[in-house]
Amino acid sequence: MSAATESPADAPTADWVDPAVMMRDPYGTYARLRELGPVVWVPVMGRYLVTSFEGCRDVEADQEIYSASVTGGSATLARALGGRPMLRKDDPEHAVERQAVNPTMRPKNVRQTWAPVFERNARKYLEVLRDVGPDEADLNRDYAAPLASQNLVDLLGLRGTSVADMQRWSHAFIAGTGNLHDDEDIWRRCDVAREEVDALLEELVPYYRQHPDGSMTSAFVNSGLPHEAVAANVKLTISGGMNEPQHMVTAIVWALSRHQDQRERVLADPALWPTVFDEAVRWVSPIGMYPRETTRATVLAGTQLPEGAPIGVVVAAANRDPQAFPRPDAFDIARPKQPHLGFGSGVHLCAGHWAARISIGEIAVPLAYQGFPGLRADPRREEQWDGWVFRGLTSLPVTWGPA
Ligand code: HEM
Repeated sequence: MSAATESPADAPTADWVDPAVMMRDPYGTYARLRELGPVVWVPVMGRYLVTSFEGCRDVEADQEIYSASVTGGSATLARALGGRPMLRKDDPEHAVERQAVNPTMRPKNVRQTWAPVFERNARKYLEVLRDVGPDEADLNRDYAAPLASQNLVDLLGLRGTSVADMQRWSHAFIAGTGNLHDDEDIWRRCDVAREEVDALLEELVPYYRQHPDGSMTSAFVNSGLPHEAVAANVKLTISGGMNEPQHMVTAIVWALSRHQDQRERVLADPALWPTVFDEAVRWVSPIGMYPRETTRATVLAGTQLPEGAPIGVVVAAANRDPQAFPRPDAFDIARPKQPHLGFGSGVHLCAGHWAARISIGEIAVPLAYQGFPGLRADPRREEQWDGWVFRGLTSLPVTWGPA
């Protein structure tokens, strides 16, 4: 928590925030909120939004005051999944579940066990893209979406699951997590997805007890966690491990299409791919906001907060905070290396960040440029962005060959 030296102020109110505008493009709203202060009460969302880099980092540094175990209308993730996964627990309970998969997700293991699988999948879907051809290809539909889905089926070890089922489950859980207005249809789709995943786990749990392997589900099953915790965390990973890598494939190609000079630099020096990946996660963070709740009255970035205050940690805004990043709105792979918050921070730092870095930043995107010289956004057809809590390109028409 930031210790206030002056008497803390009440949070300013932003009654002009329009979620529909934010769905189209949230960055103008983030800039206006930041001008009001690092912590702002937003009535239409019923929560305090934290938009400064320091404020978001302070929240993540103190889980005793800023709990991930949110309640009330913020508890949609637990409802969608039918149980509380590690992401909605604080330590020490959280740590027990997180430790179950940490060894599987270490970079050495991801490179040894999973990189060959990620590469095989990437090559398969690059052929799909090639078959669609440079006049009709959509990088999201034909490559990023099926690839991210197949990678997650494999990494989770959900044997026999189709790309389409994984996509349907993941989208249902994500929609449930965002279902702040209790749309019945969304809950119904969540119920179906939950029942199907639970039925699959009835088969997979005994299987992995007998045949442990390097998958995440095997790690959860053989860690001694109770069945409810295994099921909740497999479903958490289904909801969190597909869309974001998918969105980073398209975001990077979109960014490089608009910055020819940087595109040429990385194509001439492939050692720059990891830098390109991290700068893109900062610039267009696929997870924009996640919730926390105060366990007692406190002061955050000079702002008074009551006990039980619902908080939105807006990491997408923090990643464009001019106090933290010079020229924050510029995509710039030459900027000095410094940490961003795109994967969160603190104890809930994304468990899959190495899997994402390697599968997308080191494999999926470089292979696409290798296989399709001249790959770029197709100026003849329009791309589409959507969302702010989860944000990405829902369509990115691409072409290749000589310009
Ligand atoms: C570019 C891709 C990704 C981004 C930007 C991303 C972002 C994040 C963020 C911001 C959090 C923290 C949320 C919070 O504290 O409420 C998180 C947590 C998590 N992510 Fe990711 N993620 C990505 C890919 C993945 C992948 C590929 C997987 C798994 C295969 C994954 C699994 C998880 C899990 C299990 C957690 C919960 C960690 C915990 O509670 O300790 N993520 N992710």
